[in-house]
Amino acid sequence: MTMFTHDVLVVGGGLAGLRAALEASKNCDTVLVSKVHPLRSHSVAAQGGINAALSSDDSWEKHAYDTVKGSDYLADQDAVELLCREAPARIIEMEHFGTLFSRTGEGRIAQRPFGGAEFPRTCYAADRTGHNLLHALYEQVLRRGIKIYEEWLIVSLAVEDQRCIGAVGYHIPSGEVAGFKAKATILATGGYGRIYQKSTNALINTGHGCAIAYYAGAPLEDMEFVQFHPTTLYGTNILITEGARGEGGYLLNSSGERFMRRYAREQMELAPRDIVARALETEIKEGRGFEGGYVRLDLRHLGEEKIVERLPGIRQIALDFAGIDPVKEPIPVQPGQHYSMGGIASSKTGETPLMGLYAAGECACVSVHGANRLGGNSLLETLVFGKLAGEHAARQVKTLEHGSEAILEEALGQRKEKIKALLEKNGEESVAAMREEMRKIMTEKVGIFREEKELSEALQEVRELKKRYKNLALKNKGGVFNYELVNALELEGMLNLAEVISLCALNRRESRGSHYRTDYPNRDDANWLRHTIAHYSPEAPKLSYKSVAITKYPPEERIY
Ligand code: FUM
Repeated sequence: MTMFTHDVLVVGGGLAGLRAALEASKNCDTVLVSKVHPLRSHSVAAQGGINAALSSDDSWEKHAYDTVKGSDYLADQDAVELLCREAPARIIEMEHFGTLFSRTGEGRIAQRPFGGAEFPRTCYAADRTGHNLLHALYEQVLRRGIKIYEEWLIVSLAVEDQRCIGAVGYHIPSGEVAGFKAKATILATGGYGRIYQKSTNALINTGHGCAIAYYAGAPLEDMEFVQFHPTTLYGTNILITEGARGEGGYLLNSSGERFMRRYAREQMELAPRDIVARALETEIKEGRGFEGGYVRLDLRHLGEEKIVERLPGIRQIALDFAGIDPVKEPIPVQPGQHYSMGGIASSKTGETPLMGLYAAGECACVSVHGANRLGGNSLLETLVFGKLAGEHAARQVKTLEHGSEAILEEALGQRKEKIKALLEKNGEESVAAMREEMRKIMTEKVGIFREEKELSEALQEVRELKKRYKNLALKNKGGVFNYELVNALELEGMLNLAEVISLCALNRRESRGSHYRTDYPNRDDANWLRHTIAHYSPEAPKLSYKSVAITKYPPEERIY
């Protein structure tokens, strides 16, 4: 049996994982495991920018207020304060690492307006901000010589006496299964957008990190809050950045009306995402969209020079995937799943309730986004909380011994058996067909607008799929790059997450942020100003609730 032994194991090669690894490696033996090359992590696709109060007219307090209000008051305010205080330092650090931020005429880091923000505080690198940040951070990880295990899918965590003592990995190119013994494991595995049909997320965003943490006993938090981005390209659902509206783009319905006036009189197209996404969905559902289900994002009035300078990626995406030049024609857009506010319940320093296990970035729920994340706060979260998790884990491992080799070997043996059994299955169900069914259910019944009957149906239907999963058949029985097997392993986790999302959404009988119940259209602070916590049990998720940390921003009506 192959067993790798290290102090800190970071799982995930996106921004949160790289930042955590960079920090932890200063003080202990740290490695990074990723199921793809780090530069193919989904962080690379982030477009519009990263928030920080850099200007003397802005402040971290204003940033915090916007974030809390944007979250519909569900975010933990102590965590939000930390996020916003740390933001400028993380931006300057990234600049020193070599990030090519766009500049103002005076040479300062340029900042653009973004949804739900009272101040233009979103720093950007044209519309390829994630790409620039990820490359700069990856260079730092290489510079430090941190070992990277590439194309290893972590398939389970090993637990000894309520402590995570490492993980089991599956090497995609060879089919080898190996153990990773670690005193601390940091999950930075991203979101679970691919549970939905229409998503801006990369195909790798299956939520597998959340699923393995959940099986291992770490609870999930606020899973009912799923963010839909208002503007994804009609046909492919590739992200069309909020930066396009930040630069002045208009949303138009089939009558040519700037309809956002009716939904958010002040902020219009730059209201928070939950509000803009519902507005688009309403226009489309009520017949004011275009055939097929979209509205138009008009950038023509910005002029070619500005589009080419600030939004070159958007222009290229529209040209390549829709044959449309935004300089000459509006872009057809519709809402699509974009971000997962819920995730592994984590403290501000990344600790989960399972000792030795940390989480950071989109797979974690700290919670700084509450019921609705503001654009530009996700890249920020990866850097702030990635660093803090790495720092804490490195300190913690100094006081710890490694866990039991026998328990890790047992976990490894179990996974090998499970993989063997999956390959030998001769059932009738196909992974791809079942995954498509799950995505359809989640999109149609647990989407932007939700109600009791459909949520109950979704829950039952997902549970049926879980039963049918036992009857899978894989056509590919091989060990080399067997993506059918990888997809099958991930599908099990996706079904469990879909069950949690549906159940949490069914139980939350109010509307808050991204969770809009047509049968309970109002926010209900008296009963629901609380986080949902979901624990795994073999029968069904066990739900409980936890209070929200309120510091200086008492809940108010949310008007934009
Ligand atoms: O629209 C965007 O560029 C997305 C930004 C974000 O999700 O933070």
